[in-house]
Amino acid sequence: MPLFTWSSTYELGIPAMDRQHLTLVEAINELHEAMLTGQDREVVQRTIHKLISYTKIHFESEEQLLTAKGFPAYTEHRMEHHAFVKRVLDFHNQFMDGRVVLSAEIMQFLKDWLASHILVEDRRYAVWMKERGMIGTQTG
Ligand SMILES: [Fe+2]
Repeated sequence: MPLFTWSSTYELGIPAMDRQHLTLVEAINELHEAMLTGQDREVVQRTIHKLISYTKIHFESEEQLLTAKGFPAYTEHRMEHHAFVKRVLDFHNQFMDGRVVLSAEIMQFLKDWLASHILVEDRRYAVWMKERGMIGTQTG
């Protein structure tokens, strides 16, 4: 059973963002699976690295969309992204130094952060864009 089960609740109605969010959910599930099945350190490291890389790619893409549309709370949104990347990079460094292990708590944090970010923060820009008729082929 995956840690994070995707459902239509998480859909923003912006296909490009929805696809990227689903990929992030899959990356979190892959890391969870690596932890549960006791994969060796190298596999876990690679999986964490993949999650971080994809998270950065996604945030950049989302920030470009917000900038292009002139979303007023762009700066706050970007700060949320930045804080998350910092938190995950800190964990990554500690993991690399052998100071922490991948735990159920870390996995829960990743899942909860992404779920609430999509449902609360991302929904804000999706609603704002919908209200202005901005969601269409250009965003998808
Ligand atoms: Fe976001």
